[in-house]
Amino acid sequence: MPGKPASPRKLSLTVNGTLRQALPADGDMPLIFWLRDDLGLAGTHLGCGKGECGACTVLVDGQPVRSCQTTLAEAAGKEITTIEGLGSPEAPHPVQAAFVAEQAAQCGFCTPGMVVESAALLARNAQPDRDEVKTALDGHLCRCGSHHRVLRAVMSLGGRDKS
Ligand code: FES
Ligand code: FES
Repeated sequence: MPGKPASPRKLSLTVNGTLRQALPADGDMPLIFWLRDDLGLAGTHLGCGKGECGACTVLVDGQPVRSCQTTLAEAAGKEITTIEGLGSPEAPHPVQAAFVAEQAAQCGFCTPGMVVESAALLARNAQPDRDEVKTALDGHLCRCGSHHRVLRAVMSLGGRDKS
């Protein structure tokens, strides 16, 4: 007698330190929709949906990626960190605290992506110079023109000016 067909294995992802599972049928779904709609992690913002604005940036195994351009299947088995996983209002990540101190957010739409990207930069280079910060944030669009304050916030965390 034929046995019951094995059900396809679920996709497993660790999100902000917690193991989560997704249906294999959702493998082609952009990661951002799963994070926002299924997990309720709405801090990751959907801007262009085309990989051009950076608002949707999250960390995948510590690397900043655009979650609108990454499928659930591509992220399976990896560690995802969203803006919620970096810190909280009570215990902010240093980048979050610096953004607050420098009032680097205006409307705040681009801010989660900028913060996540900046945290990744500082994790691999604790003392970036101004050009390195600008290069890291180059692909992040801000319609409010907050770039100067963002730069100031990141530079306040160990950035160095070239002599
Ligand atoms: S929403 Fe992903 S890059 Fe713009
Ligand atoms: S603060 Fe408004 S889009 Fe950047």
